[in-house]
Amino acid sequence: MNTNASFVNWFRDSSPYIHAHRHRTFVIYFGGEALLDDSFTNLIHDFALLNSLGIRLVLVHGIRPQIDNALKIRGQSSQFYKALRITGKQSLQCVKESAGLVRVDIEALLSQGVANSPMSGAKLRVISGNFITAQPLGVIEGVDFQYTGKVRRIDNTAIQQQLDCGNITLISPIGYSPSGDLFNLSAEQVATEIAISLQAEKLILMTEQSCQSASGELIAQMTTHETKRFINLESQLATSTQQALKSAIHGCQSGVKRVHILNRLIDGALLTELFSRDGIGTLISSTQFEALRPAIISDIPGILELISPLEKKGILISRSPEQLEINIADYIIIERDGLIIGCTALHPIEDSQTGLIACLAIHPDYQKSARGNQLLEELLKKAAQQGFSQVFAFSTQSMQWFIERGFSEKDANQLPNGLQTSYNPARNAKVLCKLI
Ligand SMILES: CC(C)(COP(=O)(O)OP(=O)(O)OC[C@H]1O[C@@H](n2cnc3c(N)ncnc32)[C@H](O)[C@@H]1OP(=O)(O)O)[C@@H](O)C(=O)NCCC(=O)NCCS
Repeated sequence: MNTNASFVNWFRDSSPYIHAHRHRTFVIYFGGEALLDDSFTNLIHDFALLNSLGIRLVLVHGIRPQIDNALKIRGQSSQFYKALRITGKQSLQCVKESAGLVRVDIEALLSQGVANSPMSGAKLRVISGNFITAQPLGVIEGVDFQYTGKVRRIDNTAIQQQLDCGNITLISPIGYSPSGDLFNLSAEQVATEIAISLQAEKLILMTEQSCQSASGELIAQMTTHETKRFINLESQLATSTQQALKSAIHGCQSGVKRVHILNRLIDGALLTELFSRDGIGTLISSTQFEALRPAIISDIPGILELISPLEKKGILISRSPEQLEINIADYIIIERDGLIIGCTALHPIEDSQTGLIACLAIHPDYQKSARGNQLLEELLKKAAQQGFSQVFAFSTQSMQWFIERGFSEKDANQLPNGLQTSYNPARNAKVLCKLI
């Protein structure tokens, strides 16, 4: 394939993701380490691209290495208890200094717009503010954490207003109290609480390492239950990755649908994760991220996207959105990370204890993994529950597939009366039947 064709194919393949992500809210956390890296500008360009694709972006940055450095310059050492920083009066000064410096650096980078650069014409508006109310962490196991705090409240209305205006919201890990005090917060916790409070579609935590199995393979997905086990078993995890994973569990358990753990050190990790089939990070969700379920009205655009190429080729008969809507209760789908990758329907035929299997399709990227089989099994179960004695299918291309699954070929004039009108002789599809 020449470069042009592969570029065009790549762009077309990413279009379902572009549609799926538009107008969705993503909260993205990255540590202060990211700013010390020369490749940080690439990440900034990726944020700009997400914003221009209509994604509502909240960016939450960390400042741990900057605080450590500021303390070092003052000849002081960082104090921790159980991996949590104890923020004394002097350290608080370093926290303020670091948060201010990092924030303006990020704002400056997001303001770039030099001609012929990736940000040319982007004209991004970045807003920061007193969106987080905090309270002291207090005394734990006899240790006074002083100005280390935890999130008490998020002003989600104010953040939503900024997102509604198309502004990127940039949040530092600092919270303010009604008494006018300022607290040093965990940036992962801030990002998670914001994602929960905004009911964000995705929380993306950019860490300094990937989640890998004992044999060194990337773990593509984990449920919250598996994530807990992974934290307990995996001794090689950096403290910051552990914190990110714990935040991910909390986020999922509090209603965030998808939490992605991405290795920040992989150039383009964010775009690959969001706009390609299998991504490059670890997806954490409270339930399995691929599920077979009955279809609902809001699935219709996704079903049409899946079946229209097959309709154009004449493999499936054409269906209008209205027809789909009327019969939506007959359909089941396989949804994978928000995309519909498989569907089929069982239409009852009046007065005949017969069902018609129709509109069976699996997205080409996901075929040959028993998903077609899974849908068929589910329909056969449904047919039995509805008291059908037989099911039919009409097929121009997949008769062998049905025959291998226990169907037998019949003559079109053996169809029950109620099905005769559904059969189009001009299409000359094979008639397949299975007794229940
Ligand atoms: C038919 C279809 C639903 C099967 O889905 P799937 O998830 O790939 O199926 P499974 O994984 O359960 O089964 C895969 C097996 O079926 C075979 N198979 C796939 N499509 C086939 C076809 N059209 N005819 C015969 N065998 C087929 C595969 O080669 C594979 O067998 P193998 O492992 O021995 O190589 C899918 O290929 C599809 O969507 N096709 C286009 C739409 C279509 O034809 N729909 C039927 C309309 S009646």
